[in-house]
Amino acid sequence: YQLPALVNEPFTSYGPGSPERAQLGNAVEELKKKSAVNIYPNVDGQDVHAGDQAQQTSPFDHKHVLTNYHLAGADLVQRAISSALEAKKSWSKSSLHDRAAIFYRAASLLQNEYRNEMMAATMLGQGKNPYQADIDCVAESIDFLKIFPTLAEQLYKAQPPFNSPGVWNRSECRPIDGFVYAISPFNFTALAVNLVLAPIIVGNVVIWKPSPGAILSSHLFNRIMIEAGLPAGVLQFLPGDAELVTDAVFANRNLGALHFTGSTHVFRSLWKKVGDKIDFWVSYPRLIGETSGKNFHLVHKTAKVRNAALKTIRAAFEYQGQKCSACSRVYVSKSVADEFIEILDVETGKLTMGDKLTDFCGPVINSAAFERVKKAIESAKNDSKTEILAGGECDDSVGYYIRPTILKTSDPNSEFLKSEIFGPVITIYVYEDSTWGPELFQLIDETSPFALSGAVFANDRTVVIQAAEELRFSAGNFYINDQCTGAMPGHQPFGGSRASGTNDKAGSITLLQRFVSPRTIKENF
Ligand code: ALA
Repeated sequence: YQLPALVNEPFTSYGPGSPERAQLGNAVEELKKKSAVNIYPNVDGQDVHAGDQAQQTSPFDHKHVLTNYHLAGADLVQRAISSALEAKKSWSKSSLHDRAAIFYRAASLLQNEYRNEMMAATMLGQGKNPYQADIDCVAESIDFLKIFPTLAEQLYKAQPPFNSPGVWNRSECRPIDGFVYAISPFNFTALAVNLVLAPIIVGNVVIWKPSPGAILSSHLFNRIMIEAGLPAGVLQFLPGDAELVTDAVFANRNLGALHFTGSTHVFRSLWKKVGDKIDFWVSYPRLIGETSGKNFHLVHKTAKVRNAALKTIRAAFEYQGQKCSACSRVYVSKSVADEFIEILDVETGKLTMGDKLTDFCGPVINSAAFERVKKAIESAKNDSKTEILAGGECDDSVGYYIRPTILKTSDPNSEFLKSEIFGPVITIYVYEDSTWGPELFQLIDETSPFALSGAVFANDRTVVIQAAEELRFSAGNFYINDQCTGAMPGHQPFGGSRASGTNDKAGSITLLQRFVSPRTIKENF
């Protein structure tokens, strides 16, 4: 059969007065009324009532306990791995079309039956407004559910081997040995979806440790997959203490792959743990990670300045800068800097904050994030080479609110241009036009160890080509006259290299390749 062509899920406007807005408002109110949803590890499709407990509070209001979640212990992790490996015996032999049907059913459940519940879970749990939740937990998640079967079909068809007379060579895309361990982040429900679905579509089984900041939406997604017919054991949902769960997982020799999205620091420590036990594993575990960034906007003197400024605001401050792709450093030409900064300043001042249904800005995810960003802002206040042009106010009396903050530094090697803050803070550096060329490109390329996303704004083709060429290795996702966030599945496969990850691109065939272990068969006649 032919799989259906991919059509990206359209965004919903949730505009004032719309029926979608009213339904969403009801779902949010309903979730607010519930006192602490109980969430359990789910092994073989069954909730397991065991273990210690922790709470997920809403970043909008830290007194609001959203979930009471139970933590998987080491024994449960072992049990989950054993039965996942058992489930793999039949899942790995199932046809792509049977797997695709489950994915499409899940997409339909998310689209029609769980949309508002998932939106409310992502908004209240992860601190998103309706637009940010919709592009993530609905649109991008559905896109992943629909695109992976198509990509797997392409992968299975790719590069059939040559044949010679009397010989038939064939190549089979087996799943990898063992099981996949997926660790998902708080900031995108869709990234959890990408992390678990990519291995599953090509016949693997997944042990999933969700982020404490996204327990509710992750739990809901697991439920959707079960309801869609994913066989028991293929996806094991194990909320828990990160170190405890990881150590328990790494105690099993059958780790086939680690699929991770999160910070560079954590990915490196996991890589080291895997490397330290290299003689222990049955196969070499594949290590796939999408990690941190220090993403740039480069504004040339020929740029449409208003467009560059408005796109910078979106890239820097949407979802409070908590996207791995968020813009956090801007290099702007001296000739247009005053105009650019003026627009940035005025428009940032208009950003509203606080109300989950209507405002542009919400809170950062938790108190640790709040303290980290606040500390960065404090250190900017004490840095003689840095000025705070806008924002800087932090208030955690109800939720974890930080006003979008614009810094300007005169030091091209400033720490604010180097290190990821992962919050609503952007740093501007004004360059002399005479430095445009190798000097400026080298500065952008070498200032930070990351290479995730970046953008150039210019209205001169030669300049655009020059920037795209010279910054070829500085970003895995490069945008021309557009913001460096908002990659869409199937359109802009997303990921970066260097300290930003293994660049296997979410929602791409490159990613699926990491989860197959091809076998070549030669037969003589
Ligand atoms: N895929 C997300 C974006 O591009 C992270 O913004």
